[in-house]
Amino acid sequence: MKRIAVLTSGGDSPGMNAAIRAVTRTAIYRGLDVIGFRRGYEGLLDGDGIPLTKSSVGGIILRGGTILRTARSERFRRPEGVNEAYARLKEYDIDALVVIGGDGSFRGAWRLHEIGFPVAGIPGTIDNDIAGTDYTIGFDTACNTALEAVQKLRDTASSHDRLFIVEVMGRSAGFLALEVGVASGAEYVLVPEVPFKIEDLCEKLRYARQRGKTHSMIILAEGVMSAGELASQLKDTGGYEARITVLGHIQRGGAPSSFDAVLASRMGAAAVNSLIEGQRGFMVGYVNGKIVTPPMSTAWEEKRPLNAEMMELVDCLSI
Ligand code: F6P
Repeated sequence: MKRIAVLTSGGDSPGMNAAIRAVTRTAIYRGLDVIGFRRGYEGLLDGDGIPLTKSSVGGIILRGGTILRTARSERFRRPEGVNEAYARLKEYDIDALVVIGGDGSFRGAWRLHEIGFPVAGIPGTIDNDIAGTDYTIGFDTACNTALEAVQKLRDTASSHDRLFIVEVMGRSAGFLALEVGVASGAEYVLVPEVPFKIEDLCEKLRYARQRGKTHSMIILAEGVMSAGELASQLKDTGGYEARITVLGHIQRGGAPSSFDAVLASRMGAAAVNSLIEGQRGFMVGYVNGKIVTPPMSTAWEEKRPLNAEMMELVDCLSI
């Protein structure tokens, strides 16, 4: 193996730059050349590759976003997209590709693997919804960003005896909402994985007021419904007035936490070292504190369950 490529794909997440740096520096340390493709699979199809050197990845370990930029590529999803990408990789004389992204990005990489191109995946998404790893790069930072906001909202909620709904990201996964909910001591956490009835929520709110609670925080994963929709349901069903805050893309930015910077560094190095050792079609995971390299398909063939014990904690600790 002489030359590898790296790209970031799908939604960005804090720590992606630390992963790009780790892939690049490990590869150079091991005697390989590195090409970075800009804008994910879009840039790969366009042949938008740039050489990455040890100095071009200097000073980025704690920078948010991704210096390679990212995209969600419709062109790559087309059946002919994978062959075009394969041809581009060959043009650049690339021996293996490291993809940093979520499960959609991994599925794309897997298609290259199926036609015989060596690939490795590094899980980077704030959603933490990838099986095969306890943590994805960016999740910890996004939790801390959301937590800081919830803490501030709690100040004003308690001053005014108000009910607040804070909408966090997570279209089909509630990991971020649950983590933030437990860490902030929120009264209610609504996630896509656990169905809820508006009548039950109203009843819980009524009972909480009866017990002397003067304010409450609901952490809502965007995949359940919008904060605006929940506020109007609470009004119609229980007569509650809620204030809403949608945290949105602020959760995707900022410098990675030390946890994410270290995780990204370890995962980036492991991806390159495992490729050199001959592994193919794998993802890098972090399980019980150790780096593992299961097949990439683990990411979508298994489903990461939401922690039921943590769901119960929300009720128990917010009495
Ligand atoms: O997958 C990461 C994620 O941040 C989700 O939590 C969110 O629903 C989605 O991306 C938003 O995507 P976009 O960048 O297209 O707005």
